[in-house]
Amino acid sequence: MPRIAAYDDVKDGKKSRNPPGGGTSWRTDFMRPPEGVKEPMAFLAEGTPHRVIKPHFHEVDQFQVIVSGGGVIGKHPLSLNAVHFSRAHTPYGPLTGAEEGVGFLTLRAQWDPGAQYLDKDKDKLVAVPNRKPWQVTEAPKFEGNADVNIHAFNDIKDERGLAAYALKLAPNAQVAGPDASKGNGQYLIVTKGSVNYQGKEYKAISIGFTKPDEGYFPIVAGPEGVEALVLNFPRLEMAKAIVPEASKSKELRVWQCLLCSFSYDEAKGMPDEGIAAGTRWEDVPESWICPDCGTSKADFDMAVVA
Ligand SMILES: [Fe+2]
Repeated sequence: MPRIAAYDDVKDGKKSRNPPGGGTSWRTDFMRPPEGVKEPMAFLAEGTPHRVIKPHFHEVDQFQVIVSGGGVIGKHPLSLNAVHFSRAHTPYGPLTGAEEGVGFLTLRAQWDPGAQYLDKDKDKLVAVPNRKPWQVTEAPKFEGNADVNIHAFNDIKDERGLAAYALKLAPNAQVAGPDASKGNGQYLIVTKGSVNYQGKEYKAISIGFTKPDEGYFPIVAGPEGVEALVLNFPRLEMAKAIVPEASKSKELRVWQCLLCSFSYDEAKGMPDEGIAAGTRWEDVPESWICPDCGTSKADFDMAVVA
């Protein structure tokens, strides 16, 4: 049976701490398995303004959803309700909160030991076999005037069942959530309004989880309707390793970061950052910072991929 927890049910468990990046952070657990148990792990993380979470990675696939304030991951702006997906062993960051701070949900299908920082644990990261690092950030579209409106995210998808949807339901409208059996578990995030489940109303923010063998979440909008995200984890098949081939060609090339998979196409450059089309990787300034994982060029392990 799918489970669900509302913020009101869990808010008394809010804990504060002083993380390595400075400032103060608060954590409110919605779902917390015992250490090492492969059960879903969902919590709200909040922090003081301008808090910086250093570039790091996790051992499992992860969704993050911005629920208050804003900020950036690397150079990617984080708007309200934006979803960031990072595959297991993909470094991302730094995550920097804006003036109003940033609150985000961290959502995993199974337990993870916590952030492992790129500055200390890079060797461990590089030693992981068959790593296929990848991350993506996308904001949802809660649109439409039908009783049930569902928009699939454009970029949050892969060949193993990764998918994300934005749902907008009129008051009391009902729909079976997308099929959870094709992935590795599925979160339902109530971002506005409420859903009714097993005789109780769950207001935003509520977090539901459906295991693959539980089929789907029965979504029933509350009296004011609901806006919700459905986040489907990919199956845990072994990813194929990227095997870069060195090229001695004088043609313009595409480079890929071996840590976070960011790619740099010499033909396109990065005009937004003042790097003209046609600039070779060796001519990109040493002060350049990776937009995905925040590493400086000097620390980058790049390989030619095309
Ligand atoms: Fe993290």
